[in-house]
Amino acid sequence: MDDYNRRHFIRTSLPGFLGLSLALPAITALATRANACQGRLPADGAINWDAFLTAVEKEAAKQHLDHWNQEKYVKQVAALALQLNLKDADLSEAFENSKNGLGNMRPDFYKLEKQRNFEVSLVQFEKGEEIKHHDHPDMTGVLLCATGKIDVWNYDLLPHENDAEKVLLKETAKSTLLKDDVSTLTSKARNIHRLRAHQLTQLVDVCSALQ
Ligand SMILES: [Fe+2]
Repeated sequence: MDDYNRRHFIRTSLPGFLGLSLALPAITALATRANACQGRLPADGAINWDAFLTAVEKEAAKQHLDHWNQEKYVKQVAALALQLNLKDADLSEAFENSKNGLGNMRPDFYKLEKQRNFEVSLVQFEKGEEIKHHDHPDMTGVLLCATGKIDVWNYDLLPHENDAEKVLLKETAKSTLLKDDVSTLTSKARNIHRLRAHQLTQLVDVCSALQ
């Protein structure tokens, strides 16, 4: 058996330690990517619920930086939402619970997550159900269509006097969302919207509060 003393151990382990230090970022990145899919990396690059929340929180926390841009942010969140594995076990309970809302003649809301900078909900519509014009003051929003077909109209509020009894809205976007389509709004553009479903539709709604 080799007889190593303390000095030998330090001398021989130092290059290995330095090598490990250099490789650590790459190892961490690999571990993160593996975690994103619970150790399985599907060809479509789907990410699990935890990885999705972590990524959204990371982007939402940047809102205090000078160069932060709302349009860029909602595009990033939309891209993350499109990567989200909707069959993730952590989401299955909400999708299962949504069956309870069938037949109640109104849209249903199920809270999926609430963090300091953002929250995520599952919103379910049946055929013909709608949410009328409403705004989202100091918020951004990203809607991902998980299933179904729904019309979304977006509007901007035209300039008006503070005490005006009536205001004018300008329609700035209209889209029909099908599975894997997204609709976005920021605090400055498309902030008012309304929705009406053609058929049973489920949306994943990521709403971020600006602070
Ligand atoms: Fe809304």
